[in-house]
Amino acid sequence: MKINKLILLFVTTLFLGSCSNDEQGSTIESEVETPVTVKASFSYTISATDPYVAIFQNTTESSFQYQSLWDYGLGEGKVNVGSGLVEVRYNEVGNYTVKFYAVYNGVTTEESKTIKVDENGICPNGLCGSTSSTSLKDAATTFAVGNITRSSWVIGSGKYIELLKNEFNSLTSEYEMKMNVMYPAQGSYNFSAADAIVSFAQANDMYVHGHALIWHNATPSWVENFSGTDAEFEAMVKAYITTTVTRYKGKVRSWDVVNEALEDGSGNPLRKSVFKQKMGDDYIKKCFQFARDADPDVLLFYNDYNMASSATKRAAMFTLVDELGDLIDGVGAQMHISYNGPSASQIKNLADGVISRNLKLHFAELDIRANPNNDLTVLSNDRAKAQSAKYKEVVQIYNSIPLENKFALTVWGVRDNESWLIDFWGNADWPLLFDSNYNKKLSYYGFLGGLQ
Ligand code: XIL
Repeated sequence: MKINKLILLFVTTLFLGSCSNDEQGSTIESEVETPVTVKASFSYTISATDPYVAIFQNTTESSFQYQSLWDYGLGEGKVNVGSGLVEVRYNEVGNYTVKFYAVYNGVTTEESKTIKVDENGICPNGLCGSTSSTSLKDAATTFAVGNITRSSWVIGSGKYIELLKNEFNSLTSEYEMKMNVMYPAQGSYNFSAADAIVSFAQANDMYVHGHALIWHNATPSWVENFSGTDAEFEAMVKAYITTTVTRYKGKVRSWDVVNEALEDGSGNPLRKSVFKQKMGDDYIKKCFQFARDADPDVLLFYNDYNMASSATKRAAMFTLVDELGDLIDGVGAQMHISYNGPSASQIKNLADGVISRNLKLHFAELDIRANPNNDLTVLSNDRAKAQSAKYKEVVQIYNSIPLENKFALTVWGVRDNESWLIDFWGNADWPLLFDSNYNKKLSYYGFLGGLQ
């Protein structure tokens, strides 16, 4: 606060010369000590849970009412947010000029600071490169942390490759280790994309989770329309599984042998796939046996979705798994979930069922929808926090299962804008750990927080 000394001196002189009444005098003095300016001042700290968030504090000293305005340097201009601490997230790497204005008595003062943001978040004291960050795979000391990839993405170098190698130690092919890609025409395999992914993983000391030998949604049309007897069909499937599993023996840690065999409807019966139709109800067991015979050491999984949210689907899955006996090593629980469900107890029920069977648990295909009801056009701060909390919860649950049941937690995508969910649901969403510029989101820190 700046007091205009000249005015104060003038009025004090008047007061001394005209009156000796203390009470009156103090009244005159308080009217007189009017500041003509209020000096705007602010400070900021970096959030302990999200290094991309700055917490701003108005530190202006004044007991007078003045108007405060912020410009966070994000292109929104001046905003009036009232009093208290303000959290602002800087998603993009760059320099931001933040201004705080105090308006009093027709006079505006301002303070401005530059916020620098690099790929590790806000640079403390403007000094970038001094923040240390633990990667997901390093923080997860007892299980692998995976992500998906594509053969066209694992060539060359750049931000994506760096991030993948730094954060993850297990790879799953998003769609190139499925039957329609690996066996597009009868008698003619195409392993070129799968080979590229497996080689990249080997060169970078990453596991490969093979996904998925049999899936009704990735069955080539020549198999759907197979011309031949049922016995010939089964021999073809046996040859396909044997060829594929043998090719990657010692290179692929695990396979989803059959993916999504259960219906969603009441009773959750087996889907009426061409495999069930031609090989019989025990086609799953047969496929597991073919895979086991081809590689006695590879880990074999049954993989499906909605097994936390649906108790009946979970029960149907356990019935199926129990029938497989020693042929199965683990259950892959696809975690395509939302920020508001399924609940922690539903997820735990699923984990408990797997643990009680002494099987490995794969939290597979993790992505968490932030916009399941399509009520957002941009990811709001509140929703980002809720999504981050859900990531943390899921990771915490996984991290607390017994060591012998742990296997891997696989995230289904790196950047939000590349998530399959956007096409699948047809609306905007931000389900992953990184934004479209590979910046870590709040969800990333939720994941990391779940490992602590
Ligand atoms: C999806 C891929 O992400 C898409 O790129 C592809 O077009 C279709 O498959 N359950 C699964 C995954 O088991 O294989 C699916 O992946 C997503 C749902």
